[in-house]
Order: sequence, then C-alpha cells, then structure tokens
Amino acid sequence: MTTDDTGTDDQADAEGGSDGAGVVRGERFTGGPARSFLSSLAADERLFAADIAVDRAHVVMLAEQAVVGRSDAAAILGALAEVAAAGHGSLPAGEDVHEAIETAVIDRVGPVGGRMHTARSRNDEVATCIRHRLREDLLAALAAVLGGRERLLDGAAEHTETVMPGYTHLQPAQPTTVAHWLGSYERALARDTARLVDAYDRVNQSPLGAAAFAGTTFDIDRGRTADLLGFDGVVENAMDAVSARDFLLESTAAVTGLAVTLAGLAEDGVLFAHRGFLRLDDEYASTSSIMPQKKNPDTLELVRGRTGDAAAALSGLVTTLSGLPRAYNRDLQRAGRHAWDAIDSVTAATEVAVGAVTTAGWNETALAAAAETGFGTATGVADLLARAGVPFRTAHEVVARAGEARPEALDEAAQAVLGESLWSHVDRAAVERVLDPAESVTTRDSRGGPAPDAMAASLGRARDNLAADRELLADRRAQLDAAERRLDREVSRRV
Ligand code: ARG
Repeated sequence: MTTDDTGTDDQADAEGGSDGAGVVRGERFTGGPARSFLSSLAADERLFAADIAVDRAHVVMLAEQAVVGRSDAAAILGALAEVAAAGHGSLPAGEDVHEAIETAVIDRVGPVGGRMHTARSRNDEVATCIRHRLREDLLAALAAVLGGRERLLDGAAEHTETVMPGYTHLQPAQPTTVAHWLGSYERALARDTARLVDAYDRVNQSPLGAAAFAGTTFDIDRGRTADLLGFDGVVENAMDAVSARDFLLESTAAVTGLAVTLAGLAEDGVLFAHRGFLRLDDEYASTSSIMPQKKNPDTLELVRGRTGDAAAALSGLVTTLSGLPRAYNRDLQRAGRHAWDAIDSVTAATEVAVGAVTTAGWNETALAAAAETGFGTATGVADLLARAGVPFRTAHEVVARAGEARPEALDEAAQAVLGESLWSHVDRAAVERVLDPAESVTTRDSRGGPAPDAMAASLGRARDNLAADRELLADRRAQLDAAERRLDREVSRRV
C-alpha cells in the first residue's frame, strides 16, 4: 500500500497480523487491542529498501570491526538478500519494518540472525531509513523541478516577442511578453531548487550508530556505515541523531514553497484560459458531464489544490514534532508520512503544472488586443515626458488626467496640468510609438525587463544557472549510486 491510504494503515497493519508474538518481542507485549494501533508495518513499505540497505551496511561494518564473526555476518547478509527478494509483502508480523525484517532474518538463519541488531536500536535505524528514503524522493522532486525549468525556458525562448498584458491587482498594468511571464516562474522554481538542495544536504547525514540515543559500548565505526550508505557524514550527537526530525520539516517546507510557486503558475493559467489567452491541450483539460461546450482547466485547479496537501503536511509535522522531549518518542512514527504525502503530491503537480502551460496554445490576437486595453502603456508616456525634462510626478499627473491612450486626450491633459501643449515637450511620433504595446515592451530593456534582447540575456543566464543546478543534482545522484555499488561489492565479498 502507499501512504496515500494513511486512513486505513492501521487496519491494514492489523490485517498484516502485527499482533503476533515474533522472535523480537518474545512473549512480551503480545496480543491485545493496541497491537495494530502500535504498528506502522504497512506504511513502512516505503522504508523497506532503505532498511535492507541500512541492515547490510551495519552488518558489513560490524564484521569489519570484528563485532560479528565472518560466518555469522555471511549468514545474515545471505538472509537479507532473500528477504529483499521476497519483498515487503512477505514479511512476518511486526510492529514495524525494522522488527519484521529482523524477524525474517532470524526465521531464516536462527539465533545468529539476532546479531544483526548489535550496537544499534530501532531509534537510530528508523532515523537512518527515513533519511535514506527521503534522499531519493528529494532527488525525484528536484529532477521534476529541473525538467520543468527547462520546459519553461524553452517555451520562453519561443515567445520573447509575444506581447501580452501584465497585471497588478488583476488590473491591466503594463504590456509584457509571454517569455517574461514564463521566465518569472522559471526563476521562482530556481529558488525552490536551491531550497530543496539545501534541505537534501542536511538530510544526507547519518544517525546510524547513535543506538537508542546514548551510543554503544561496541567498537563501531559510524563513519564507515555513513560512507557505505552514501551519506556526507554523521549526525554527531547521538541524542540529537535519534531525536532530530527537523530535516523532515525543512524538506516539507521546501516542498510547500514549491507548491506555492506551482499554485501561482496554475492560477495564472486558469485566468489566462478564462480570458481566452491560452487554450489548454486536450491532455490537460477536462470536460463537463452535462455542458457539451466546456473545456475546463481542471489539471491546473488540481495543482492549485495541492498546496493544501503540502500545507496540511507541514502543519501536521509542526504539531507532531513540537515540544517532544528528548530523546525518542513514538510520536515520531507519525512524522514521516506527512513528508511523504507532501513530496508525492507536489512532485506530481510539478510535471502537470509545467506540462499544462508549456503545451497550451497562445492566442496571440487575443493577447495583443488585451494588451491594447486598459491603457497599459500609460507608464511609457509618463517616462517619455520625464525624459523630456518634466518631473516624473508631474508627468504621472498629466497621464493620469488623460486617462486614455489617445494623443489628443494626452495633449488636453498636458495643457491643463503644465499649461503647455504636450507637443512642446515631445513629438507626436514618439508618443504614438510608446502607445504601441509592442514598442512599449521593446523599450523596457533594463536588466530583467521584457524587451526581447534583455529577455534573451536573462534566459541565457537562467540556462547557465539551470546547467549548474543539473550538475548539483548529478553529483548527488552519482554519490548515492557509487555508494550503492560499493555496498553491493562489500556484501557480495562477504556472503
Ligand atoms: N517504528 C518506529 C518509528 O517509526 C521505530 C522506532 C521504535 N523505537 C522505539 N523506541 N519504540 O519511529
């Protein structure tokens, strides 16, 4: 099952038979009404592969440190391979995946299997598993965001001259271009990228070897397990290592920020579809079951709605984590699911949101007509007068008084405000030029502005930044892949 079904986890856990005795618990705490309530086994499917990896690294290290003998380590690693192949669905009853895997190992090789849990606790184990898994999810989210940025930049490159109205307060404000609009979301996604990478780097520290919270008497090598699992280093303080879930909080916060970016993109898309500026590809549109003429932007509305998933997860995490005493408390078992909900929901939304707006057809006629309405070129006229020596505030007053993009109206306003004809300050051809939305865009060529040349330069810088971010992602992916191969090698040498 997936974490989408959190509402039924406990029931599914109960059906999984988690109320059995098992080799780990022995006869203690068997049966009773709270057994299924305690169990996270079903939801822990998400951690299954991570737990196998963590078990393998731990056993390799224990063998290297001569805490566990070679043949016992070989037996355990062999059993782990079988458990991994059988999959999560074949696990015996257990309170959680950690206990169930240990039970499965002991079921296969007998009491020597019990050596696997030497010098650790489920507390450091689960914290390591969550981080191990979350790395994958963050990398997947990052891949989706980087892919989205590329598509937005490609779309922008095609539309540096497609004029559209820009808005403030949803009122026509100044003409801009479709490239400028698309590029604005690419830049926002670049900051979401940075926040996700930043979160990733703090996730990628190993709590393993902290044991329950107070370390262990065994001569373990925490750096070695960290290395075998591809972590950058260890979470130093053992009490902190088992308690800390702020890495979930900041990952979920980063994902929530991404959701907010996407919601803005989606909302603009909905509005633009409403105004006839763009037409969604059928792939991204929906129909009405009763109104035959309808083509609805449901995908974008669902993207917008997913901010609710992320915000709910963030709020759930803050509530769950806040005020927990040191060191480990079982409340923490409820923390991971919030992060999974948020990251699954928003990663999927990333592809849909960007897909919807980059495959949509733009109605250039409607865009141009809309750019003409609402006197969006007013600022340009004021700028022109200011450049001719009229103080900007006075120029603003002239244009405001005219209230429309007609040269005669502007001249009348100039006479009223300045006591002089407009044409004594600027020539008519220049005014007509700035009243043209396309001209207006071309002249707004300051850095980051929509003028096609300025925009092309901005897009170039964005491409460089995207390439650098791709490298950050590739480095992290490569580090995990290399560690996985190293661990595989170490394990195969020992079975
Ligand atoms: N399933 C537990 C969790 O997710 C594992 C840790 C249990 N530790 C304990 N001391 N009961 O947090």
